[in-house]
Amino acid sequence: LVVPRGILKEEDDEVDVAEGKTKVTVFFGTQTGTAEGFAKALAEEIKARYDKAAVKVVDLDDYAADDDQYEEKLKKETLSFFMLATYGDGEPTDNAARFYRWFTEGKDERGTWLQQLTYGVFGLGNRQYEHFNKIGKVVDEELSEQGAKRLVTLGLGDDDQSIEDDFSAWKETLWPELDQLLRDEDDATTVTTPYTAAILEYRVVIHDPTVTSSFDNHINVANGNTVFDIHHPCRVNVAIQRELHKPESDRSCIHLEFDISGTGITYETGDHVGVYAENCDETVEEAGLLLGQNLDLLFSLHTDKEDGTSLGGSLLPPFPGPCTLRTALARYADLLNPPRKAALVALSAHASEPSEAERLKFLSSPQGKDEYSKWVVGSQRSLLEVMAEFPSAKPPLGVFFAAVAPRLQPRYYSISSSPRFAPQRVHVTCALVYGPTPTGRIHKGVCSTWMKNAIPLGQSRDCSWAPVFIRPSNFKLPADNSIPVIMVGPGTGLAPFRGFLQERFALKEDGIELGPALLFFGCRNRRMDFIYEDELKNFVEQGSLSELIVAFSREGTEKEYVQHKMMDQAAHLWSLISQGGYLYVCGDAKGMARDVHRALHTIVQQQENVDSTKAEAIVKKLQMDGRYLRDVW
Ligand code: 2AM
Repeated sequence: LVVPRGILKEEDDEVDVAEGKTKVTVFFGTQTGTAEGFAKALAEEIKARYDKAAVKVVDLDDYAADDDQYEEKLKKETLSFFMLATYGDGEPTDNAARFYRWFTEGKDERGTWLQQLTYGVFGLGNRQYEHFNKIGKVVDEELSEQGAKRLVTLGLGDDDQSIEDDFSAWKETLWPELDQLLRDEDDATTVTTPYTAAILEYRVVIHDPTVTSSFDNHINVANGNTVFDIHHPCRVNVAIQRELHKPESDRSCIHLEFDISGTGITYETGDHVGVYAENCDETVEEAGLLLGQNLDLLFSLHTDKEDGTSLGGSLLPPFPGPCTLRTALARYADLLNPPRKAALVALSAHASEPSEAERLKFLSSPQGKDEYSKWVVGSQRSLLEVMAEFPSAKPPLGVFFAAVAPRLQPRYYSISSSPRFAPQRVHVTCALVYGPTPTGRIHKGVCSTWMKNAIPLGQSRDCSWAPVFIRPSNFKLPADNSIPVIMVGPGTGLAPFRGFLQERFALKEDGIELGPALLFFGCRNRRMDFIYEDELKNFVEQGSLSELIVAFSREGTEKEYVQHKMMDQAAHLWSLISQGGYLYVCGDAKGMARDVHRALHTIVQQQENVDSTKAEAIVKKLQMDGRYLRDVW
């Protein structure tokens, strides 16, 4: 069995482009399914507006088996749209990475080869991050440079506000242009009919538990497979779980070890692990009440009608069934993020109380934009919180899982172990997400709460388990062990460096000569959150770590951060980098990594005695050479 995917892989058959029809291809690069949803919605809307259009939605990974095929197939496209998410440190999504590399790196040899293509790009990003919509921007620019004709201005979706509004606004700029291309001269009358997307809905089949014998046995994992990925995770047990903070701390950080022995899972130091966690019981119970449904109800979802014909629309493949509602809500429904506008539309359609229906409709409308932004997004109202405010809105399960609750996504963690040191285990270092929101709700992060409550194998044979998979990264130690390494990782940013140090520990034990290694770690107070303190000191004693430099931010009267410590050591640090050393930064992207980047810039300026522009070029070069690497979130 396979875990239901956020990504629907299209069959490879070409759209049947009948006489007189125009082929339109909508590509998507998606990580959590939003770009994919937008691609499908755009395709549906184009289909509905233009009889002439033969539209196909394509996952960039599935489009071509290799680079040559990308070239061959793209040459044949004449009208295409690209829905491209940017994530992490300005990176493409996993399913767009291969395309992106090929498209951007090989451009010089290809020249202006895309003259037959007209295109539009909509980017999905978040303005809080430094590389806002980088992938959309680059692809938009490159398509033009490689000869294609830009039909509309690049759309810059900002997930920090309402990305759905950005998408709608972008589409409004698109229609007049598409009208010119795709509307038949004689059908000018239909131009003004506004298009409203139908509310998505699965067909639901209720099962009799006494008849369906193997219900809820789904582990939804592909053990036995040789390759595990986001669509084919592997079920693994929790072997170890312990608190890393000291008793004085009022926060929590969990050390967790997944047992991968016998699974065939392999990983490298610096990789990430994707974890499918479950919503906690309390959340599931609340959702059951709000839906007015019995959690033991056994059901399955289907994308076809009873007569076998397709329900159409942009429905994602359903999760495997039959399963109980309890399982469905725990594993597959994102219940704690603020609802999207499309969810409010669906709730509105199923609210029996007219005033509630009206208010929900308003919140999802263009006029309600500010209110949505304030009342939903700004207040961080979760889907369940919103549903609680509109008790008469009880959508049927087919609507709830198709249009109201997005699919629960896996969470990614930088692995905090090395396979050289812990070959049978994948270690995770996870800060508990727990705190009040503006409405006074206590927000509990799904996966960190799950990890906090996880029961390890040592404690019970009935231990916790999760479907997981490895996501490779390029955050790796230098191949030459004698090269100096400088690591900057406050808080849980320490995770991959613990892996690095385990690796160096093992290398050293094997008698391999190691270059110097500096670690800049930061925490609030040594009596509270100096995680892995003993281990780190041990690494220093054994020699795998040359220097441990810790910034305590809440011990003295002044805040001490890792970048301050870096500044103190500027000359030393820069001399190591000048000798060919590598600089690694891991942790929070919005604050820490940005500030550390600035500090680096200043260090270069001072140590090299150059102006800001020159310093920037030096930092850029380090980045291009892969000697300044960041693993940030
Ligand atoms: P603070 O919470 O006292 O502000 C791990 O989270 C450590 O990183 C904490 O000591 C935290 O300090 C610190 N930190 C917070 N913001 C930071 C920033 N912009 N740069 C560097 N460290 C930061």
